[in-house]
Amino acid sequence: MPINVAIDGPAGAGKSTIAKAASKALGFIYVDTGALYRSVAYYAVSRGADPSKAEEVTRLLPEISPELKFIDGVQHVFVNGEDVSDKIRTPRISMGASAVSAIPEVRSFLFDLQKKIAAENNVIMDGRDIGTVVLPNADVKIYLTASAEERASRRHAEIIEKGGCETFASVLADVNQRDYNDMHREIAPLKQAEDAVLCDTTGVDLQSAINMVIGIITEKTGVERS
Ligand code: DC
Repeated sequence: MPINVAIDGPAGAGKSTIAKAASKALGFIYVDTGALYRSVAYYAVSRGADPSKAEEVTRLLPEISPELKFIDGVQHVFVNGEDVSDKIRTPRISMGASAVSAIPEVRSFLFDLQKKIAAENNVIMDGRDIGTVVLPNADVKIYLTASAEERASRRHAEIIEKGGCETFASVLADVNQRDYNDMHREIAPLKQAEDAVLCDTTGVDLQSAINMVIGIITEKTGVERS
């Protein structure tokens, strides 16, 4: 049976960076499920649909064929054959992904794909509902979080480094808005699974956070660093 690790938590908690590093250290596949919601938002926007209008998005689902491919261990997201891995990382698509993720039809549309990957591979899968809904029997569940200010400040630094010019206040407002959306939607809201280990990385440097997560996984599964 493949080993499944679920990492959930709010936007900007460092889930993807930490899960990527832990996957590499342990020889697991890293699956970023947020990319799937982003790819639906990307397609909806590219077809002129409003991601917050359920009927507009749902109508497009039969035309969308999202795929995750792992090239040299790195996840690439394809929509109808187009590699959209970079195009889905804009603030507009972040907000759109949060909106489409509240649509029940979108969640069930992406459910089987996530289940299938986890059934076939040792995975560290990150998202919002992995430990609660997608992989309720995961071998390890981690809820990774940090204060909203710290998450916004990390994201702001990334944006500035890439040459962006958003203000800290607008990044913080986005973080708070997305937290609110993700935690208050009716279906599969973001919350800590009862059996998840809480990892709060406020004030913790990246390498220590990675070590913390690897430590939890190795302790619970007996897997060793590769
Ligand atoms: O992790 P991310 O920022 O790429 O996720 C984008 C959006 O997708 C986020 O606002 C919430 C949603 N999402 C979700 O509802 N369930 C998941 N398993 C992963 C992401």
